[in-house]
Amino acid sequence: MQPFEMVMNPKQVFFSVLIFGVAGLLLFMYLQVWIEEQHTGWGPMKYLQPVPRIMSTEKIQEHITNQNPKFHMPEDVREKKENLLLNSERSTRVLTKTSYSQGGDQALSKSTGSPTEKWRIEKHQGAKTVFNKFSNMHWPVDIHPLNKSLVKDNKWKKTDEIQEKRRSFLQEFCKKYGGVSHHQSHLFHTVSRIYVEDKHKILYCEVPKAGCSNWKRILMVLNGLASSAYNISHDAVHYGKHLKKLDSFDLKGIYTRLNTYTKAVFVRDPMERLVSAFRDKFKHPNSYYHPVFGKAIIKKYRPNACEEALINGSGVRFKEFIHYLLDSHRPVGMDIHWEKVSKLCYPCLINYDFVGKFETLEEDANYFLQMIGAPKELKFPNFKDRHSSDERTNAQVVRQYLKDLTRTERQLIYDFYYLDYLMFNYTTPFL
Ligand SMILES: *[C@@H]1O[C@H](CO)[C@@H](O)[C@H](O)[C@H]1NC(C)=O
Ligand SMILES: *[C@@H]1O[C@H](CO)[C@@H](O)[C@H](O)[C@H]1NC(C)=O
Ligand SMILES: *[C@@H]1O[C@H](CO)[C@@H](O)[C@H](O)[C@H]1NC(C)=O
Ligand SMILES: *[C@@H]1O[C@H](CO)[C@@H](O)[C@H](O)[C@H]1NC(C)=O
Repeated sequence: MQPFEMVMNPKQVFFSVLIFGVAGLLLFMYLQVWIEEQHTGWGPMKYLQPVPRIMSTEKIQEHITNQNPKFHMPEDVREKKENLLLNSERSTRVLTKTSYSQGGDQALSKSTGSPTEKWRIEKHQGAKTVFNKFSNMHWPVDIHPLNKSLVKDNKWKKTDEIQEKRRSFLQEFCKKYGGVSHHQSHLFHTVSRIYVEDKHKILYCEVPKAGCSNWKRILMVLNGLASSAYNISHDAVHYGKHLKKLDSFDLKGIYTRLNTYTKAVFVRDPMERLVSAFRDKFKHPNSYYHPVFGKAIIKKYRPNACEEALINGSGVRFKEFIHYLLDSHRPVGMDIHWEKVSKLCYPCLINYDFVGKFETLEEDANYFLQMIGAPKELKFPNFKDRHSSDERTNAQVVRQYLKDLTRTERQLIYDFYYLDYLMFNYTTPFL
């Protein structure tokens, strides 16, 4: 080998530097996007997540599970882990479907879709194709008539009529505002809030603050994981890892279940759900929501906050919380407890067979249990397992909280939850 072959001429040096520079820049941009995603909660920018090609879904699940020893932690810390887990799930398991987000979401929601978000979407159009993996699954999932062969009792007639009305109402809504076929969304993300009960073939999409703890208890009983819903602790329900989520299955497992199981979602008046979430997380000591959300909210929305409040993050006022919620530049991301149902459960993509409401929870739930052939003695529990001495959030309580807000703020909350209001036929007396 001759020496001159080892030495680069200036032209080669220039190109090497250029190539390294460009590669570095790309890596930097990629990492920045990835880090942002880790911090922004439910953003539309899930495209850039690398798919670890050598890992199967099960492997990844195992990997995440192993990294998440939630068992012996205090409750609030575990709650935090749960949220972090959501993020890590999104960063490792990515799959795309032929729909970007809930049908009509972009067209309809007025208060989301900030310029930054739109810019990000555009920015990633190119990159996403690299990581996309399409499958032949048709969205939305087909809708089937409810199988009522197991309901013998006449007393469910009224409940059933209401149920059929809600189903067709939602279906009509989705047809009208559908327009989902041109967008991208992630299958695993879309089904990540859905719990699976294989024995009775049920899928239940978890909506926090709408009776989900008791639903999870029921699913555990149905699955044979507990003998009674009444003695399963709050922690066992939320951190026990007894129930499987739909995104822990492989593609085939997901599609089969989506198309053959009875899919249920239980919703609640958006304003009530919001106030309920606020009371639960900010009106009681909480070692996750106060330091993480409380601190950031007080810092940004309370002028002249005292030192102590800035440090402990306690005592967030409802108005401050609303300013955070409505801010398109939130200092901390969204959270499942106040996230829209349209973004948690994707009702127009999943086509739920059963739409329950918190307002008629026991009735709806017990009818559902009949329908799926649950043991006769199994009834939906009616207890409130946290802060049980507090009054339940009802219309009266909501009215008190809304007194602190201006009419404009109330209107903006309505706009924020607009899709939830429309899909589930809720109206508000507060405007
Ligand atoms: C309805 O459910 C019953 C009992 O589970 C079952 O035997 C029947 O095949 C179902 N019918 C349909 C149309 O799926
Ligand atoms: C929608 O809500 C209105 C007012 O509460 C009610 O009268 C109507 O029956 C509801 N429609 C459906 C399909 O549930
Ligand atoms: C729950 O109650 C049932 C019967 O009432 C009992 O057999 C079971 O051991 C209890 N489980 C727990 C975890 O306490
Ligand atoms: C946090 O700071 C506020 C404001 O000074 C104070 O009133 C409150 O007692 C503190 N809370 C905790 C849990 O330390």
